Amino acid sequence: MTTRELQDKILEKKKENDVCILAHAYQSQDIWEIADYVGDSYGLSVQASRAPQKTVIMAGVRFMAETCKTLSPDKKVLLANPMAGCPMAQQMDRDAVLKMKAEHPECAVVAYINTTASLKTAVDVVVTSSSAVKILKNMAEKDILFIPDCNLGGWVEKQLPEKNFHFFQGGCPTHLRMTAGDVRAARAAHPDALLLVHPECRADVTEQADYVGSTTGIMKFAEASDAREFIIGTESSIVQHLQFSCPDKKFYLLSKECVCHNMKMTTLMDVYNSVVGLGGEEITLPEDVITESLKPIHRMIELGG
Ligand code: 13P
Ligand code: SF4
Repeated sequence: MTTRELQDKILEKKKENDVCILAHAYQSQDIWEIADYVGDSYGLSVQASRAPQKTVIMAGVRFMAETCKTLSPDKKVLLANPMAGCPMAQQMDRDAVLKMKAEHPECAVVAYINTTASLKTAVDVVVTSSSAVKILKNMAEKDILFIPDCNLGGWVEKQLPEKNFHFFQGGCPTHLRMTAGDVRAARAAHPDALLLVHPECRADVTEQADYVGSTTGIMKFAEASDAREFIIGTESSIVQHLQFSCPDKKFYLLSKECVCHNMKMTTLMDVYNSVVGLGGEEITLPEDVITESLKPIHRMIELGG
């Protein structure tokens, strides 16, 4: 069977079975083409609650499927590939948050969305890379405990000097592989290109960027820009998608190492198996976890606009 034939089968079956397919921006082009919605973590979480279908399939990683279930507890939510987890979301659990909270009782606890549903029950607000600055600006609290990504947190801190930040030393192993040395080499090879990077990158990378933003933010910036060449400092799929949407521009990956192997676990076949009921994992969460993790997620949506 060709890719196109498999895509057609998925499109036919998803209509028949009343299924919505959500795909994170890091998914491959063949999955993008059959998704109902593609976006960054913020967009996916908002879209999850709006989808009219009774079943939602997440082509992404586990925390995204959990957020989807929290926002739509009455829907059947399937993670297309049950092995796809985010290593950053495993770096900190609820007990570790409670311990840090006890050490910093004056702080509001702000958690990156790349965390488990269980951890979110212990925090005040959830943020994404595209909404973090706006949300923190809108919060009255001055003292902030930002978890788990200290690189994203440090980038937010630079823009909000009026707040006092404390960090957990967590981060994304994919984005941490990009270095200042990669920036020097890429700038030398492509002197006319703009450097667009994700805020999960190290400070010595984000400091040199022409634009810092979420996956969707990077794509919108490149599509709207008059520049012709771009060095992309985030997961490799974004280069592929940009090359499809802007064939007259040139895109270079900041580092060949920038592949999220967890995001790449999901295949078109996994999506097909999930749509026809032969694969995927149905996400279930205890009722109290849904109720308590919904509070900081709702606060994110309220403050993030
Ligand atoms: P965004 O899609 O929110 O930019 O996040 C990137 C990411 O690493 C998702 O796991
Ligand atoms: Fe997690 Fe990083 Fe992969 Fe995103 S890119 S899913 S943060 S490991």
